[in-house]
This record gives sequence, structure tokens and C-alpha cells, in this order.
Amino acid sequence: MSSVQPAETNTMRKYQLFIDGQWVDAESGKTFTTPNPSTGETLAEVAEADKADIDKAVAAARRALEGKWSKISARDRGRMLYKLSQLIEQHATELAQLETQDNGKPIRESLFVDLPQVAENFEYFAGWATKIEGETIPVPGDMFNYTLREPVGVCGQIIPWNFPLLMAAWKLAPALAAGNTIVLKPAEQTPTTAMELGKLIQEAGFPDGVVNILPGYGETAGAALASHPGIDKIAFTGSTEVGKLIARAAADNLTKVSLELGGKAPNIVFADADIEQAVNGAMMGIFFNQGQVCCAGSRLFVEERVKDQFLSSLKEKAEKIKVGDPLDKATLMGPQVSCEQLDRIKSYVGYARDEGATVLSGGGSPQLDEGFKNGYFFQPTIFSDVSNSMRVAQEEIFGPVVSVITFKDEDDLLKQANDTIYGLSAGIWTRDIVRAHRFAKEIHAGVVWINTYNMFNAASPFGGYKQSGYGREMGKHALEMYTQVKSVWVDLSGKPIGWFGK
Ligand code: NAI
Ligand code: MG
Repeated sequence: MSSVQPAETNTMRKYQLFIDGQWVDAESGKTFTTPNPSTGETLAEVAEADKADIDKAVAAARRALEGKWSKISARDRGRMLYKLSQLIEQHATELAQLETQDNGKPIRESLFVDLPQVAENFEYFAGWATKIEGETIPVPGDMFNYTLREPVGVCGQIIPWNFPLLMAAWKLAPALAAGNTIVLKPAEQTPTTAMELGKLIQEAGFPDGVVNILPGYGETAGAALASHPGIDKIAFTGSTEVGKLIARAAADNLTKVSLELGGKAPNIVFADADIEQAVNGAMMGIFFNQGQVCCAGSRLFVEERVKDQFLSSLKEKAEKIKVGDPLDKATLMGPQVSCEQLDRIKSYVGYARDEGATVLSGGGSPQLDEGFKNGYFFQPTIFSDVSNSMRVAQEEIFGPVVSVITFKDEDDLLKQANDTIYGLSAGIWTRDIVRAHRFAKEIHAGVVWINTYNMFNAASPFGGYKQSGYGREMGKHALEMYTQVKSVWVDLSGKPIGWFGK
């Protein structure tokens, strides 16, 4: 029997908080609802965590850290993570459907991109559990010095709504592999799949209190977590604005912080590129997940010489994108996650016009069937004649909206590409390998894609330069954020201690 509630139930889904292995109501008794963004109808009613619930969960995570979890071998931690990855694979269809219903992303993305990567992350970090090792250090004299790599402790993890399950996986998997315990807060827009994941975490055999999942609002539950003195580390993915609030709140307790924040990635097309490939890459860069991607290629730099050819192909292809029912396998773009996000995107169409950019394609709501007319849909949109100083080139829009900027030569380009507060990712399209690698070195970004875009793997680190944040998720680098190093000294001489002992 499936532990995950199937997607097509007619009864309203209800979720409680997951604290200390129990499903409980919020102390306040409050709940909130989450809509299906393709219809605007309520998808689920969810218990609303607040400070009192966060306190309970942090206490449970501390007890688990110091109790049962600390006695479990690395091998068994790895086995639980591996079991979890298998359970996710078994339930991938239901989870993908629910992710699509809660977030609006097309089923072809949730089923073929999000879910496989969720499973991959747990599987990858399952392997790491037994490979987290200390070192011996060649210190002088009759001394033995070694290091222990220990868990950081109780980790608070605050998750955004754009890849709800995948962002939870990026944070949970390395933290669990390293032996930490967790209080996780999913985004209020998309709490449902994290709660289903809680059921699978229980089924995989993790002891009570190792993972606690508390949906709630950012200003209440999120802020309570970030400022909690009982938290040893806080990991956050979301807006740069909230990232700064979290860093400030954490500073009072000197809680360790990692932040994965916004971006305004340059995606750069040189005239010598394979233009059709670059057009496809530009679309993948900005229209994937309705543009709600921190590393979206939202500043599209195109070399002057190929601008006309490039833009006419981009426009033609963008206008053929099938926007609509996200549960339809043929759909390439679903709705934006929320009414707020849709309004925010619309306001940028106004800014673009005010500042003299041209709306080359899209810029409004698509015509859709009756059933979807209350959904938060927006057309694939291209702004041309953009200069890098305009708001649409400097601010993260987080929608299917690309700003096209033309350039003449490489020097001019690099200055503009780096002229942003962000530094998460960058793309380059060229057949000149020397230029490609020179660019990869000179661009200020944590990830660079050459003749490709949006490539991810659990083994490869991801994170930002500049105001895109700090810390690296995935790969062995993620383990550094979830472990701390202890240096141990042992006297091997057996002689009296010098100095005062003489
Ligand atoms: P947000 O940064 O407010 O939300 C992300 C998470 O932070 C959610 O779980 C939220 O509940 C929590 N949060 C909000 N305020 C908090 C606080 N004071 N203390 C602790 N946690 C808090 O993002 P929002 O408002 O939903 O979206 C606004 C913009 O943020 C988007 O348009 C986009 O530009 C950016 N964003 C970037 C993401 C990324 O992947 N880097 C993901 C989501 C949003
Ligand atoms: Mg917010």
C-alpha cells in the first residue's frame, strides 16, 4: 500500500506538522491553504507552524542529535538515505503530480527533471556517509595530531517554492549523511510534497526527531528558526532580501549560515556559436520552470552581428511554446507559482516600456481554456533593445522574461556581464574554446555553462559569488557546510611536560 496520498483524490488534502516523528496540529491550532496555481482552487489545508512549534521541533532535533542518532553507524545512515532514494523512485509519479499541482510546473519537468534529481541527491549522499573522514597531521616532536570531522548539530533549513522537493533534497541529503538533525521549513506556497517526503523519511527508518518538517510563513516560522539560539546552522534558499534578514538574525547567536540567493545570469551568444543550439539554450535558460529559477539566463547578451538572425529564431520558437495545463505531458510552460509573482512580473513589463526597451514577444497573459482562466499564467516574453543599466537587466524578475542586450566585442561584454550585484551562474555559446575558457575564468559566478545551460548533478557543487550568497550545495563541498573539524593532540613521549613542568 502506498504511503503517499495519490494525487487524484477528490477530498481536500490535509497535512499536520511533522515533529519528533509525530504528526501534530500547530500549538495555535491555526492552518493555512495552498492553491493550485493553474486553477486558483485550494489544493490543501496545512497546519501553520509558528514560534512555539519551532521551539518544540528544535528541542526534538537536539534530543535526537544527542540520543539515538549519534549511536547509529555511518553505514546505517547511508542505508537509510539509500532506502529513502528508492522510496522516492517508487513514489515518483504521485510526488511529481503533487509537485505540479502545488507549484504549477509542467509534469514533464517534475517527472523527468525534479524527481529523478531528488532521488539522485539522496543516493549520492548515501554513499558519502561512510566516507567522511578526519586526517592525521605531520606535527613536529613526539606528538600525534589528528582531526575528527563531526556534524555541526541541529540545522535549520528554509526552502523556497520554485523546486520544492529538490531544494529540500539538496539540503537534507548532505546534512543527514554527515549525522546532523534538521528542522525544515518548506515555503508557504508549496508545502505539500515536503509533507509527503516526511512520510517516506519515516518509512526509511530515520529515528524520531532527526528530521522535523514545519510548514508556515516566513515572517513567523522562518524568522523563529533563523533567530533560534538552539540552531547550530541555518541554510536558506530564496530572495537576496530575506537572505540578508537571515544573516542578521543568525549573527546574534553566531549561527553558521549558508545562503543560495538570487541571480541575474548573463547568457552570452557569440557570432561564431551554433546559432540554433544557442537559441534552444537561451530558451532553456529562461523558460524552464516558468523562469522561476535562481540561475535563469535572464540577461541574454547577443553579439551585434547575429542579432537579427538570432532574435527572429528566438521569437518564432518562443511563440510556439505550449503554455497551459501543467498536468498535460505536452505542456512546456505552466502558471507562475502565485498571484503575487504574476503581479510582480507584470510590473516589469511596465518598467521595460518606461525605460525604452521593446517588447519583442509576449508581455501579457496567454489565451487559455475556460478551466485555466483563473490560473497565474504569463506568456514567454522577450525584451529587446535593453541596456544593462535598466531595471529589467539589473533586478531579478523570476519569470519567463528575458532581456536581450547586444554587444560589439569581448571587453565591452565582460564588463557588462560582471556589472551586477549577483554572481550565481553564467552561460556562453561559442565554438572558440580559448575564448570559452577565458570567459569561464573571468566571469564572477559560481557556475559556468559552456554551450549548454541548466546542467546539474548531485556530485557537482552549486552556489553563488557576490550577493548570490555563500556556501556550496551538492558534491563533496556540501559536506563542508554540514561538518565541523576538531583537532586532537596526543603526547606520545611520556616525558614530563616542558616549560612549567621543568
Ligand atoms: P522569499 O525569500 O520570501 O521566500 C523563500 C523562503 O524564505 C520561504 O520559505 C519563506 O517562507 C522564507 N522566508 C520569508 N521571509 C522570511 C524571514 N523573514 N525569515 C525567514 N524565512 C523567511 O521569496 P518570495 O517572497 O517568495 O519571492 C520573492 C522573490 O525572491 C522572487 O521573485 C525571486 O526573485 C526570489 N526567490 C529566489 C529563489 C531562489 O531560488 N534563489 C527562490 C524563491 C524566490
Ligand atoms: Mg516573501
